[in-house]
Amino acid sequence: MAVRMIKPGIYSVGAIDWDRRLFDELIPLPDGTTYNAYLVNGGEKTALIDTVDPTKEGELLTNLRKIEVEKIDYVIANHAEQDHSGAIPTILSAYPDAKVVTNEKCKKFLIDLLHIQEDRFEVIEDGDEISLGDKTLRFFITPWVHWPETMVTYLIEDRILFSCDFFGSHLATSELFAEQGEELLRSAKRYYAEIMMPFRANIKKNMEKISSLDMEMIAPSHGPIYKNPDFIISAYEDWISDRVRNEVVVFYVSMHGSTENMVMHFVDLLMERGIPVKPFNLTKTDVGELAMALVDAATVIVGTPMVLTGPHPSALYAVYLLNILRPKTKFLSVIGSYGWGGKFVEIIKGLLTNVKAELLEPVVVRGCPKEEDLKDLERLADEILEKHERFK
Ligand code: FEO
Repeated sequence: MAVRMIKPGIYSVGAIDWDRRLFDELIPLPDGTTYNAYLVNGGEKTALIDTVDPTKEGELLTNLRKIEVEKIDYVIANHAEQDHSGAIPTILSAYPDAKVVTNEKCKKFLIDLLHIQEDRFEVIEDGDEISLGDKTLRFFITPWVHWPETMVTYLIEDRILFSCDFFGSHLATSELFAEQGEELLRSAKRYYAEIMMPFRANIKKNMEKISSLDMEMIAPSHGPIYKNPDFIISAYEDWISDRVRNEVVVFYVSMHGSTENMVMHFVDLLMERGIPVKPFNLTKTDVGELAMALVDAATVIVGTPMVLTGPHPSALYAVYLLNILRPKTKFLSVIGSYGWGGKFVEIIKGLLTNVKAELLEPVVVRGCPKEEDLKDLERLADEILEKHERFK
């Protein structure tokens, strides 16, 4: 990535990963990502805020050479996950006087994950400041966005919040300040859904903590910089609120078509009742799209056939994801078909320990759905219509 100046003395020196298509071997990245690192020169001292994924550390070093950085005093580690911290050992070798500035918990993670020596650290606490000369960094510990050690760094004089993963988006773009439109909002929402959604309550607290800061920009470590922080802050306020939308998400898998027939009929019934619905065929869908749909939907329906004595493994995988993503779902049900027996509803219910949704009477049929089974789907659609009245 080319080096870009954000403001005098402040540079973007990270890397763009145009080709990355999977994160944590789990999260699809249809638009690639960036690992943003920022260099802040305060006249007397220089700080590097976060680094890059180890696969891109050569680019970071090249960028630092391009702007003739001879000395780094501080490497600020806002987060220990390796896509931001993985190049710290290389930076410490290249800049032998540099100290890693972070909180106690993050220090422990960095020692465990990267084997950084204890004497290379300078530990800060919540609210501490470091002067670089005519620029000052203030640190705010913001746990669980999205690891227990996460923190953010505020550059007081320039009013920039370096938020690391918090407010980020997986969006590879050549634009330093992307247009704050639909594309960016979609990427940020996908990122929130996949990474931040399980921590809604923590995000609320952390947003309160930084709410009094006078911010000209938010510079995350993935995706473009927000020149208008209200754009992303108001989006987060909506996503973390308790408000749900009059929407139904149906994720399903079908082996011989019976469950799919039920799902498609049910989708039509919801549409006839004016209820927005999004079906996701689990053998084809991108789980990021599904996670994004879960952010606001009032109701989730699981569609599965019986495989031996339980749900189809693809449905189980999606139910497991639903449980760990902890969306604010209010109502839940199961529809599907079986051949000779088994217990898919009980198994699904047992897995959903984190989702506090009301279970609506499932529709479970033997074999191919008959006329009366389709009537039962009407009963479920009517029940959802009634339950959703208050979300319209
Ligand atoms: Fe972008 Fe949690 O790392």
